Amino acid sequence: MPFPAHFRWGVATAAYQIEGATTEDGRGESVWDVFCRTPGRVRDGHTGEVACDHYHRWPEDLALMADLGVDAYRFSIAWPRIQPDGTGPANPRGLDFYDRLVDALLDRGITPFPTLFHWDLPQALEEEGGWLNRDTAHRLAEYAALVARRLADRVEHWITLNEPVVVTAYGYALGVYAPGRALLLDALPAGHHQLLGHGLAVTALRAEGARRVGLANHYSPVWAAAEDDEADRRAAEAFDVFMNRCYTEPVVRGRYPDLSVLGGPDPASYVRDGDLAAIGAPVDFLGVNYYNPTRVKAPAPGDPLPFELVPVEEHPVTGMGWPIVPDALLDLLRTLHRTCPGVPLYITENGCAFDDSVHDEERIDFLARHIDAVRAAVAEGVDVRGYFVWSLLDNFEWVEGYHARFGLVHVDYATQRRTPKDSYAWYRDHIARSRGAVTG
Ligand code: FCB
Repeated sequence: MPFPAHFRWGVATAAYQIEGATTEDGRGESVWDVFCRTPGRVRDGHTGEVACDHYHRWPEDLALMADLGVDAYRFSIAWPRIQPDGTGPANPRGLDFYDRLVDALLDRGITPFPTLFHWDLPQALEEEGGWLNRDTAHRLAEYAALVARRLADRVEHWITLNEPVVVTAYGYALGVYAPGRALLLDALPAGHHQLLGHGLAVTALRAEGARRVGLANHYSPVWAAAEDDEADRRAAEAFDVFMNRCYTEPVVRGRYPDLSVLGGPDPASYVRDGDLAAIGAPVDFLGVNYYNPTRVKAPAPGDPLPFELVPVEEHPVTGMGWPIVPDALLDLLRTLHRTCPGVPLYITENGCAFDDSVHDEERIDFLARHIDAVRAAVAEGVDVRGYFVWSLLDNFEWVEGYHARFGLVHVDYATQRRTPKDSYAWYRDHIARSRGAVTG
């Protein structure tokens, strides 16, 4: 069964992971610049200072996309390029970069899907409390308006946030990602403020002419360690609320699931009247980032979190140690279809890292099986409109630095030479075949 004619095939990247040029053209500092400089935070002290040097080499990267035949490109806009201090007027040189990129994409028939916030918060805002400060939500909306004022005449699809749960969990609860704060459940307001920022940004974007707006969430289907164990089932439910439902239900239904299963601060201390109406501003699509399912069990007595993660051992794993379970993607799409009726979905990220050379059979197998899961969902009537491979290029994989390679294209960081992997050729053929199946 072929994919529908309008189905988009794309690739995804993010600013801090590929651009480099962190001090050029007036860019301010982001939390990730500061985090990378802090000894012991990122493997081998790697930083995004140069990354794939995409800021200078973007024409070459665009040519790679054109040859690949994608019709959509998800990238992110670096907030500190647009507002070096996180507030105030736009830095025109920052906007110019994305303006040129958008024009060049459109010239090649590639639809831009910019993400406004893919984790590189201006450091100046972090110094005011970052996402724990409610005001940051208003700053996001202000920034969104500046970008849309310049680009919305040409950019139709907008993504406000990337994976707010990861910022909350890794950035503020566990402290393993920037900004490195380890507040456990006291981090929950950081999630709420991101959602509020999303809602305010949706409204601000539309006021500037943006036509289709959504956000990209990280989803992980949850399995209880022992299905017949009541405590494990409760832990699985809590993890599902924490990871998945917290960032979906407020957006599509204007209300939170029952947060009392998490423990943590009383939501009344950070959710104000009117917030959920703002967060529930209608979206045109949901972005689904999927990598793997999670298994959880009941926490040990005295554990501050209401769940404990246990490894999934019965499936093969990627180079990151993430279990490979395409069926869990199918389950996830069914769940979203049921719980978010009428909301179109895009797979905004899916992919894998392996210690590969350019001969990456394992990646081909991973992508083929996940795309089959998407095909099965579409055949059942789930409204999936596109699929973006994470990632076009090997890039700066956060705390793994340059050790994890997710690209369809290999990057030699010493020379910045790009070499398409076998998976690139496979994806190109896949796209060409699916277009052929549609039209012919
Ligand atoms: C996701 C991030 C993305 C990338 C992949 C591997 O959680 O959104 O930036 O690092 O994981």
